[in-house]
Amino acid sequence: MTEAVTDWRQQPLAALMRHILDTHHRFCREQGARVAGLFADELAARGQDAALLRLQGLFTQVQQALTVHMAKEEQVLFPMIGQLEQAAAGQAAAPRFSFGSIAAPIRMMDMEHREAERFLARLKELSNGFTPAAADGARARELYAALAAFDRDLAVHTGLEDGIVFPRAVALEAQLNAA
Ligand SMILES: [Fe+2]
Ligand SMILES: [Fe+2]
Repeated sequence: MTEAVTDWRQQPLAALMRHILDTHHRFCREQGARVAGLFADELAARGQDAALLRLQGLFTQVQQALTVHMAKEEQVLFPMIGQLEQAAAGQAAAPRFSFGSIAAPIRMMDMEHREAERFLARLKELSNGFTPAAADGARARELYAALAAFDRDLAVHTGLEDGIVFPRAVALEAQLNAA
């Protein structure tokens, strides 16, 4: 996969943000819907299972929070970072944001990443590391595998944002302010 060979630190932020949207935001939505469907099917088959209902409740919360979080990145933060990168390349005037520094919305996104991680960590703990019980059937195994894939992709996704996109956006803004 391109993930393994692309060094995103060397790529324009616009390309990395495009990749995040096309790959990780898309996966988060599609896999989130798949996991939600598997929870519903498994609960319908198994009846009221308190442990499973608890996992479903946690997953629903993190899925809803991430839906709102991604919309903020897509509609507000990523376009702003795109403006900063264009300005730093001399292709546009330096943008002025109503909230002051780009660091403010980035701090909020960062807090939301940590919150999502806490939810996933709780889900992982309560499901014994996304491990189905010996007596579980094929659908439950599929559900846990789908949850594990959701967790893995989210870690890559937030890692790219926290590790590359956000610090470079802050540095671009500092560079423009110093110019
Ligand atoms: Fe994102
Ligand atoms: Fe994010």
